[in-house]
Order: sequence, then C-alpha cells, then structure tokens
Amino acid sequence: MSDKLTIALSKGRIYKETLPLLKQAGIEPVDDPETSRKLILDTNQDNVKLVIIRATDVPTYVQYGAADVGVAGKDVLMEHGGEGLYEPVDLKIAKCKLMTAGIKGQPAPNGRLRIATKFVNSARAFYAKQGKQVEIIKLYGSMELAPIVKLADYIVDLVDTGNTLKANGLEPLEHICDVSSRLVINKAAMKMKHKSIQALIDSFAAAVK
Ligand code: ATP
Ligand code: PRP
Repeated sequence: MSDKLTIALSKGRIYKETLPLLKQAGIEPVDDPETSRKLILDTNQDNVKLVIIRATDVPTYVQYGAADVGVAGKDVLMEHGGEGLYEPVDLKIAKCKLMTAGIKGQPAPNGRLRIATKFVNSARAFYAKQGKQVEIIKLYGSMELAPIVKLADYIVDLVDTGNTLKANGLEPLEHICDVSSRLVINKAAMKMKHKSIQALIDSFAAAVK
C-alpha cells in the first residue's frame, strides 16, 4: 500500500471475522484489541493502521474521513443512512436477521403498538410500510427484557440462532431483512487514495468469493 490507510473496525465478531480478509490483503495487526487497551493498532504494513471503535460509530468515522475505510453491519448502516460512504462489498460476515419478536404465544394487543429497539429508523420504516402507527422506544441493548417487563409489546432486534429470544421466553415474528457486514469507504478517500483502496476492495471481494 503506498497511501496511508486507516481502517475502522469494532471489537468482537466484526474484528474476528475481518481478520482473515485483512490477512488475504497482506495486512496483519501487531496488537490484539481484546488484550490491548490501544485504540490505534499498528499493522505489519507501515502505512496501514486500524482504529478500534464501537460498531455503531464505524459509519461516522468513515463518513468524516477520520478513517478511510471500515467494516459495518447493514443494520448499523441502515440506521446511519450511509451518507458520504460507498458500500462496495458485502463481506458476508456477522450474518444475522433483523426481526420483530414478542412474548411466545401472546396474541397481538389492540391499539397503538409499543416497539422497543436500538434500530429506530429501520423499525419506523418497517411499521410505516405496513401502515401501522407505532410508538418507538429507543433502547441501547438488552431489548429482550422490554416485553417481559411490559415496557413494550414487541422488540425489533437482531436474531441469529434465536437462543437469546428463547432464553427469555420470546419468539421471532416478522423478518425485516437479512444482515451482514459491508466494507465501507469514505467518498473523498476513494478519489484521493484510489489505487490503494481499489486494491483493498479487490482483495476483500476475492477473499469473500
Ligand atoms: P455497539 O458496541 O456499537 O453497541 P454491538 O454491541 O451491537 O455494537 P456487536 O455485538 O459486535 O456490536 O455487533 C456488531 C455487528 O455484528 C452488528 O451490527 C450486526 O451487524 C452483527 N451481529 C450482531 N449480533 C449478531 C449475532 N448474534 N450473530 C451474527 N451477527 C451479529
Ligand atoms: C445480539 C442481538 C441479540 C443476539 C442474537 O446481541 O442483539 O441479543 O445477538 O443472537 P442469537 O439469536 O444467536 O441469540 P449481542 O451483540 O450482545 O450478541 P452476543 O452476546 O452474541 O455478542
């Protein structure tokens, strides 16, 4: 890589599942974010750094050019809106589904539904498309609790195995969309650092296949 590149990743599953793709592109981090407290990680390539941030912050860092590229879930990108970003590759990692869920076997309540979720925009769009007026309650996590304590009738959340729903006496109801993580690129960086970024895109796209 001839240009300086900053890549934004979140700890946990996105970092773990992006590592093999980075390796294919010849990029190997020097530190492990699970054990290091550093937020900027050096790699084996002098010009390439990784910044380790919250999953929901990745599109923001890339939008403003604080990172040139990043990896973000489609769920997070739908909430962010995708402004200032290219989204050239579906990396097919961190796969799950955005779904509605409610207490198992409980009939639908009458009147205006209360929906607890972290995915406010996606939830609003989903219910609007069905012509349903809903009250959205923004939460930052542990959405499964909301119907149990009667904070909400339903939740909109990510579902993979369904184990978290099951463990809390909930069941998945409506499928909103499939989710996987995407490579995102700052639009200005795509122009200014075209050669290096295109090489990264090509390498990631080949690794996905
Ligand atoms: P933040 O730290 O910003 O609140 P988070 O805790 O949701 O984000 P992760 O749990 O690492 O971050 O999830 C990152 C991404 O991985 C999500 O945006 C989603 O696309 C995907 N994801 C979340 N949960 C699952 C799951 N159970 N199975 C597969 N993929 C998932
Ligand atoms: C996500 C999501 C659900 C859970 C779904 O949470 O918000 O709570 O995963 O996965 P499941 O259907 O396989 O149970 P979180 O990011 O906390 O998941 P994690 O605890 O698996 O990291």
